[in-house]
Amino acid sequence: MRSTLLAALVTVGMVGCVGGIESGGGPDPLESPDGDGNDNGDNPAGSDLTAAKQLFDTGVFPVLEAKCSGGACHAETAQGSTLTRFVATDPANGWTIATNYTALVGNYAASAAPILTKVKPGTHQGVTGYTPDEETKITAWLNKEVELRNGQPMQPTTPGVETLSAATERVLSEFAGCMSLTNFKTANMAQAWGNLNANNNQQCENCHATGGEGFIATQQEALFYNVVSTKKYFFLQYLTVDLTGGAEMAKVIMNTVSFKGVSEGLDPHREHPRFNAATNQGMTALKNFYDATMARKAIPAGMPGACDAPRPLSNL
Ligand code: HEC
Repeated sequence: MRSTLLAALVTVGMVGCVGGIESGGGPDPLESPDGDGNDNGDNPAGSDLTAAKQLFDTGVFPVLEAKCSGGACHAETAQGSTLTRFVATDPANGWTIATNYTALVGNYAASAAPILTKVKPGTHQGVTGYTPDEETKITAWLNKEVELRNGQPMQPTTPGVETLSAATERVLSEFAGCMSLTNFKTANMAQAWGNLNANNNQQCENCHATGGEGFIATQQEALFYNVVSTKKYFFLQYLTVDLTGGAEMAKVIMNTVSFKGVSEGLDPHREHPRFNAATNQGMTALKNFYDATMARKAIPAGMPGACDAPRPLSNL
């Protein structure tokens, strides 16, 4: 309801100020419900994100523009087969578009945001890794997003005090060590997600069976489990890390942000098939899988059924 209203508001706004839009203006994303152009719940602290946007605009957008928009790849207007088009044509929209792709930002922790983790090793589609200067700028921006969106103080620099980025890596690895194919099967993940219909009657797996566009959903159980339980990039569409309580309280939670964005066609996912992201058979299965994994996590080490050792997820 809220988004329908918003869409109506935007339309009315556009009629009234076409000039503004032509000159690269448009609605100010910082004044949107979530502070970044949509209302998908990715700013739980409700912070003013201006300082993060500034770091992106000055230090990160130029890097993305130079490195990622080339050829048929990630430009907003790209014509190729890559559909995660996160490099805006108009730099004024750069931050809004980039931050609303879970496939690009994950939970913003430098240890988990694909913008850094996927490209840094220098093995992504022949793209060279970042220069130290580029990496510093991207990390500074991500740290600021994490700090503001979670309402947490600056990343500590005191030796021995865990950063939010390190906490993210730790809880992801712990959770991964508690995942099991048996629980994945019992929760019916593959049937539920592979078979899930969007409102246009297309199934998620029509487009996402092999992990296209940064998301995997398939009835091929072993493949599905193998991908989400080992690759951070795919894991983070289903599950993310709650950092609102700081490093000590960091915890893996179900990711509703990624689904909300696409299911309601929130910018930049305007053309994505719509579906009910809050209540569907996939979310029910995910909840069952999540609960079973957390129940296993609660079993003391050494007892029957306890988790395996923490297992870092692959960045590739
Ligand atoms: C007609 C093809 C198609 C179908 C069907 C489809 N998707 Fe997508 N999906 C895409 C494309 C294209 C993208 C990348 C562009 C975008 O994000 O809009 C995407 C991206 C995504 C993302 C990543 C969003 C992000 O922020 O990184 C998620 C999550 C997702 N889809 C979930 C689903 C779910 C769940 C279903 C089934 C209910 C589904 N999709 C059905 C085409 C499809």
